[in-house]
Amino acid sequence: MSRFLSTALCALFFCSMTSIDAKAATDAKAGKAIYDTNCAACHKDGVMNAPKLGDKAAWTPRIKQGIAVLTKKSITGFTGKVGTMMPRGGNPKLTDAQIGDAVAYIVQASK
Ligand code: HEC
Repeated sequence: MSRFLSTALCALFFCSMTSIDAKAATDAKAGKAIYDTNCAACHKDGVMNAPKLGDKAAWTPRIKQGIAVLTKKSITGFTGKVGTMMPRGGNPKLTDAQIGDAVAYIVQASK
């Protein structure tokens, strides 16, 4: 992510994000396996209103927040307009880096 974008995002939302953003050398390939085991339960078929993998209309506005923000929200869990996602998709064993990889995979497959 460009310096400008992350600075802008930082100013807008999550200044605490910069640490995650800085080491955000995400690996979408590794993320696929993490997604398949931990995220597909909801994100494949839209269970609990989760945005489906590959659904561009659902993901485009979300992706605009930037991967750093998406990752942060996936780590802490959040309640959005359509539903609630629990921290780390419900698997507390996943590391921040693994969540980042899974998010990178979802984003790559959905834009
Ligand atoms: C129990 C169901 C469930 C599981 C499992 C799940 N999610 Fe979600 N996720 C949701 C729901 C529901 C939303 C949409 C909430 C909303 O926007 O109202 C969501 C939204 C998201 C978003 C969009 C965030 C945003 O700001 O729009 C990302 C990124 C995401 N999930 C990543 C993941 C990752 C990565 C995993 C696996 C580690 C995962 N999810 C597992 C239910 C789930």
